[in-house]
Formats: sequence, structure tokens, C-alpha cells
Amino acid sequence: MKVLLTGSEGYIGAVLRDALLEHGHEVTGLDTGYFSDCDFGAPPTPIPLVRRDLRDTQREDVEGHDAVMHLAALSNDPLGNLRPGLTETINTHGSIRLAQLAKEAGVPRFLFASSCSLYGQGGALGLTEDAPANPQTPYARSKIDFEQALAAMTDDSFSPTFLRNATAFGVSPRLRFDIVVNNLCGWAWTAGRIVMTSDGTPWRPLVHVKDIARAFVCALEAPREAVHNQAFNVGSTENNLQIRDIAYKVQRQMPECEVSFGSSDGDTRTYNVDFTKIETRLPGFERARFTVDDAITEFLDAFRRLALKDEQFQGRLYTRLRQIKHLQETGQIDEELRWRKS
Ligand SMILES: NC(=O)c1ccc[n+]([C@@H]2O[C@H](COP(=O)([O-])OP(=O)(O)OC[C@H]3O[C@@H](n4cnc5c(N)ncnc54)[C@H](O)[C@@H]3O)[C@@H](O)[C@H]2O)c1
Repeated sequence: MKVLLTGSEGYIGAVLRDALLEHGHEVTGLDTGYFSDCDFGAPPTPIPLVRRDLRDTQREDVEGHDAVMHLAALSNDPLGNLRPGLTETINTHGSIRLAQLAKEAGVPRFLFASSCSLYGQGGALGLTEDAPANPQTPYARSKIDFEQALAAMTDDSFSPTFLRNATAFGVSPRLRFDIVVNNLCGWAWTAGRIVMTSDGTPWRPLVHVKDIARAFVCALEAPREAVHNQAFNVGSTENNLQIRDIAYKVQRQMPECEVSFGSSDGDTRTYNVDFTKIETRLPGFERARFTVDDAITEFLDAFRRLALKDEQFQGRLYTRLRQIKHLQETGQIDEELRWRKS
């Protein structure tokens, strides 16, 4: 199938493109390129790229595709706090523009990279897809707002699917250290300390970036009736962990490291999610294949191979907010995150 992959230059996109190519699909990327010089090791597999801001998507960008996989976004809470309204403008309104153009152009499938963070401060354990959204941040709010707008566009010829990803982990050619498992592994390797900003009690559902990629491929290849206007939590019950459990798992593979706790960093997110639906109703997925322990081993191999240093771990390349601030401070993008003409 011909797939337009937005956010193709980011952490998940760089892995998902390979999964699509391995399954014989034809992939074109669409991305504005904030992180295109942020390689971790070898660069991602090259694919044709439309270098475009989501806010300016054109009909010709989407025309002729069998599916849009929509990942492009300001992808976390710190970015969401950069400037009021920006997350809404890009993640909600930019996404609505893309979906409307896709629908008008007759693209039958639209797969959206949503997030389990829309459950927010979920009081209960085991939140299913029917649990009410309780977004705690502009980022999480943008995910539920766009899901609702997209659901309203559903008809016989336009099938959206909402893949509500748990927090990702694992190595990617466009690595992020600003997500919890990756961050704690980076601390352990570079400082010999595993440093939590919280008291370690919040729950996080977690999922390997390769399992996210496989979920997208399964949803793309599934019969329409299995995925039409359906939400799926993407992750596994086994990978629902409290943050301190992640720290102790890292320590088990690097026993010389100390674990340290913070108090509260004002982050009220805690949620524990049920993954029965994806395991039983998304054809071909069955279960997430990778555990946090697998990823810690994978990270230690990669850090050894690439001789990861503290300045790289703490630097701009692998922390989304630092890279965006660098692009602003060096005059490459403006306050609206638009590229300045040179
Ligand atoms: N990584 C996770 O833990 C996680 C969990 C749940 C959901 N998600 C969602 O999955 C998607 C991908 O996440 P990721 O971790 O790869 O993030 P990322 O930040 O690594 O990648 C996002 C990509 O979107 C692009 N982008 C941002 N704004 C754009 C704009 N205005 N126009 C065009 N391109 C733009 C960036 O250049 C980047 O390449 C996001 O929608 C994110 O919200 C991620």
C-alpha cells in the first residue's frame, strides 16, 4: 500500500518506516524536520520526504495514498508548555487540516498516533478504551480533541483508527532521552546514578517503539471492519510499571548504580492501562513482544558501541525541548516554530 507517514523524521517515525518497508509498503514521509540532524548512530533508512509544516499541508501531499499514518506533533508536555496555544494550533488544528484533506482526496484509512496520556490522572487500575478522558496537559488535551474531530469525519469511505500508545521506550536512530525508560538508562550509563524526578510511585504504561511500529502495520493491513473508527491502547499489561520499578530494573543490569528519588515535580499523571482489546481484536498483533528488561539490555549494547558521553546524554540532540530551543536561539525557527527564510 502507499502510505503517507507524517512525523517520519522523529523517534517513532524512524522505526515505523522500516517496519512498513519490510512489509512491502511504499512510504513517503511528511515532516518539518525539527530533529533531522539528531541521529543516534546510523541515520534512518532514507525515504522520499515532503518537507512541510503540518499547518500548511496541501491536497497534493495526501493525494494517491491508501493510508495516512499521522505521527507529526509537538510530542510531549514540556513542548506543549513552550508557548500557550501552540500545541493546539499544531496538534489539533494542523491535524484536522490534514485529515480533512485526506478525506477530500479519497484516502480511505487514517491511523492516528494518539496517547494513553489522555487518560490523565486515572484513579482506577486497568483503564480500557471506554474509560473517560481526563487530560492533565495541553498535549493530552490535543490528543482527545483531535480524536473527537476525527471520529466525526468517519463515514463509509473514510476509516480512522486511534492508536493510543503507551509511553515508548527502546533504541531508535532518532533517539529521545526525554522519555522515562530511555532517560533512566542514560543516567545510569553516564553518571552511575538513576535519577528520578518523582517519588517513583506514578504508574506508566510502557511499550517498545518496535511494538508501536508493529501495531501500526497490523492496523494498516487489518480488514476495515476490525479497525473502522476504533481506539486501541497500544502496550502490554506486563509493561504497566511504577517509575521506581523501572529504576530497579535498570539497577539490576547495572548494579553499581545508585537509585535516587525526587519529591514531586508537579507532574500529576498516573495511569495504568488495560491492553486486552489490542491483544484480542487487532488481527496479527497478539501481544507486545519486548519488555523493559529487553530494552535496557539493548541500550547498554548501544551505549557501549557508540561510547555515549554525558554531554550527548544531556545535550540538545535527544531532548525535544532543548533542540527546539536551540533552533530558536540560533534564529532558525521563530516563536511559532516556523522556519525563518535564510
Ligand atoms: N514517544 C512516545 O512515548 C509517544 C507516546 C504516545 C504517543 N506518541 C505520539 O507519537 C507521535 C510521534 O512521537 P515521537 O516520539 O516520534 O515524537 P518526535 O518528537 O520524535 O517526532 C515528532 C515529529 O513530528 C514533527 N513535527 C512536529 N511539529 C510538526 C509540524 N508543525 N509540521 C510537521 N512536522 C512536525 C517533528 O519534526 C518530528 O520529526 C506523536 O504524535 C506523539 O504524540 C508518542
